[in-house]
Amino acid sequence: MVEGEIAGGLAVRARGVRHSYVRGREDLRGVDLDVAPGELVAVIGENGSGKTTLARHLNALLALQAGSLTVAGLDTADPARVWELRRACGMVFQNPENQLVSSVVGEDVAFGPRNFGADEGQARAAARRALGEVGLAGFERRDAHTLSGGQQQRVALAAVLACEPDVVVLDEATSMIDPRGRDELTRAVEAFRCERGATVIWITHDMELAARADRVVVMCAGEVAASGAPADVLVDEALLSRAGLEAPLAVRTWRALEDAGVVAPSAPGACPVTTEGLVRALCG
Ligand SMILES: Nc1ncnc2c1ncn2[C@@H]1O[C@H](COP(=O)(O)OP(=O)(O)O)[C@@H](O)[C@H]1O
Ligand SMILES: [Mg+2]
Repeated sequence: MVEGEIAGGLAVRARGVRHSYVRGREDLRGVDLDVAPGELVAVIGENGSGKTTLARHLNALLALQAGSLTVAGLDTADPARVWELRRACGMVFQNPENQLVSSVVGEDVAFGPRNFGADEGQARAAARRALGEVGLAGFERRDAHTLSGGQQQRVALAAVLACEPDVVVLDEATSMIDPRGRDELTRAVEAFRCERGATVIWITHDMELAARADRVVVMCAGEVAASGAPADVLVDEALLSRAGLEAPLAVRTWRALEDAGVVAPSAPGACPVTTEGLVRALCG
């Protein structure tokens, strides 16, 4: 915690983070980002805007090339702290199958804690608790390959949670699973945030999901183009269009109703960003 205080008590503090995969091209062009502990930040941006590159820097899967980056109070450029960092900042990626280290669910989820030094009993207890948190209590003996994509993503999330992370990064974790799987994963994230108060960085193309975040960060061409409350960022269609994105359905519907004269043009901040918000605005 002492180090966390040195980093201003922030879960993530990025300053001028740059990355080039090939000489002469900048894929991250100086990212500044602060994330408070317990915050749920949605990161949106078109393909190639640098979201995954930023995510990979958060737990030092990529070596820092320029700038400074502190995650859970740990300097990502410090090679001596890489293991601590990987425990403190867990990732769930797009493809559920690629993330399994064991086909037995309980083994897969206990792998992390064991790897980070827990004894057998602690690792099993951590796995049991994490599986319960993602709605998969009693799945320890199941073959992961027989589960749905959504269940596999929750196993991947449980494997992260079993390591008691401070920060959880989901990189397009719902893009390969069906709507039911997406809803189940979303509920699991809500549940563990309540339970553990962990910070969540959710990279997504799902605007409904982004609309429910505490904050939305828009990435464009390797930079943070905007950061703010969903109600401010997701109604800015000019900004979203520049970033290659489309506003949430509720925003587009509301604008069309304004244009058709069905509703009065809304004051700034009055445009709904979620489906429920749209229903409230129309019926209230
Ligand atoms: N392993 C890699 N080697 C070379 N270029 C890469 C690699 N990974 C990503 N890039 C490039 O870096 C840029 C940012 O990619 P990425 O971070 O994956 O964006 P996003 O996750 O927003 O789609 C893109 O131009 C992409 O082609
Ligand atoms: Mg990506």
